[in-house]
Amino acid sequence: MPELTESAIWQSLNAHYENIRHIHMRDLFEQDPNRFENFSLHINDLLFDFSKNRITKETLNLLIDLANHTGLKDQIEAMFRGDKINITENRPALHTALRRSQQNKTVYVNNEDITPEINRVLDKIEQFCDQIRSGKWRGYSGKKITNIVNIGIGGSDLGPKMVLTALQPYATENIKVHFVSNIDQANLIETISNLAPETTLFIISSKTFTTQETMTNAHSAKQWLMNSAQNTQAISKHFVAISANRAEAINFGIASDNIFEFWDWVGGRYSLWSAIGLSIAISIGFKNFCQLLLGANDIDNHFRLAPFERNIPVIMALLGIWYNNFFNAASHAILPYAHSLRYLSDYLQQCDMESNGKSIDRDGLEVNYETGPIIWGQSGPNGQHAFFQLIHQGTKLVPCDFIAPACNRYDSTEQHAILLSNFLAQPEALMQGQTIEQVKTELNQDDLSITLLHSKTFSGNRPSNSFLFKEVTPKTVGSLIALYEHKTFVQGCIWNINSFDQMGVELGKKLAYALLPELNNNQIIDTHDSSTNGLINYYKKIR
Ligand code: F6P
Repeated sequence: MPELTESAIWQSLNAHYENIRHIHMRDLFEQDPNRFENFSLHINDLLFDFSKNRITKETLNLLIDLANHTGLKDQIEAMFRGDKINITENRPALHTALRRSQQNKTVYVNNEDITPEINRVLDKIEQFCDQIRSGKWRGYSGKKITNIVNIGIGGSDLGPKMVLTALQPYATENIKVHFVSNIDQANLIETISNLAPETTLFIISSKTFTTQETMTNAHSAKQWLMNSAQNTQAISKHFVAISANRAEAINFGIASDNIFEFWDWVGGRYSLWSAIGLSIAISIGFKNFCQLLLGANDIDNHFRLAPFERNIPVIMALLGIWYNNFFNAASHAILPYAHSLRYLSDYLQQCDMESNGKSIDRDGLEVNYETGPIIWGQSGPNGQHAFFQLIHQGTKLVPCDFIAPACNRYDSTEQHAILLSNFLAQPEALMQGQTIEQVKTELNQDDLSITLLHSKTFSGNRPSNSFLFKEVTPKTVGSLIALYEHKTFVQGCIWNINSFDQMGVELGKKLAYALLPELNNNQIIDTHDSSTNGLINYYKKIR
């Protein structure tokens, strides 16, 4: 049995949980007028308010003891140093080096400094951006590129899509970027149907360059170009690849000069900082792309150097563990109050759930404690009119992150204030709740039915973090993502799991490959379980 739950510190946290679980946050706020000051932190212009959590100073101290018990400090250093912490794949996890290279520090992998190689690819990205943005790069008929289609899935899609959506005010109007990820042809067809092949550039983003969805769409895109260009030479004007598998990219027909490398020590879901961010760099410009890296680098430095009690990603992680492992909260909601951040929770779903959705620890043993929670959410205002009912009054505890910029480029101050009033009111309501007495006073009626009375009460005591910063800029977006990346890593360290592999996605892929030929004939299938057989045979009947 893994020793985590047997450790003295875990037992102390269990005992502390029993003491605290009935305490209402209303009382904690009343007892401590400085609770906000005591439980909030800043980095640059970002304020992290974690005072609306079911914690006291003692809780935090105990959680920090837990982090120390698992050797977190050394584990953080091991990641930054480039140790092979992805033990099942025998690789480092060095996405942080991609943002650190800007300061030209050395990082070694297999005794080789990787910084020159990172800088070489960054230079190549810069030159390519200039060529596309200035119009020097021309399509097969001599016209400028006006549309870019990024074909990729998972980490080769979600990061660039989320960041570019967030940073639309920075995007050049001359070049539109589109994202195709789904194997469902509708995604590619609906995207390219309004585009002209002669002015479209495809970026084939795939670390492995073998992913079925991406390669199938890439081949269809190539065919679409060929139908119009009628000349294979056009491929070099309209296709670039981003991959750690150069050989496969060349096999596909990508010109050698059009390949932007990244490396096996960059995990797919941590890859937007690499050449996978090419579409971002083209759209917002290379300088802004560097700001994104710098924003992440600021958090890297903070994460590496700040003591745990003032370390934002460490505290985010510890709070998550507090609810996940002691309050048995199964999920965590991410709720941005900015339309531009509407894909943040989609992105963080992969970041967190593919990293920490594991039940085997680093010693190969099955864990006897909960690991990664279900990450979900969407734009806060829209969520309010959909699922907030459950967060306020349901039987499940759902810790939430509320995220908002103080300023917005488009809206009048007045309209933005309405948005922010909601960003502020929801966590307040979750924390405070509403008592029966308050309902009675509010309705000012004596003959209210018990059902109505109780239905209108809110227990409150529902935890949340609030993140407030000045504006959605490349730098703040970089910082925000890095905070969550490190939070995820810290939780993996404490749960003693490898956050950098994703073996759980393989079985389904293997079975799909095996099953595909069975769909392409008219025979009755009886080789699977009766459910799968039944579904295949019904499909054949109605197709
Ligand atoms: O199948 C999961 C996964 O491997 C993710 O980890 C990754 O981000 C995605 O597929 C895409 O992989 P690739 O970039 O190799 O096409």
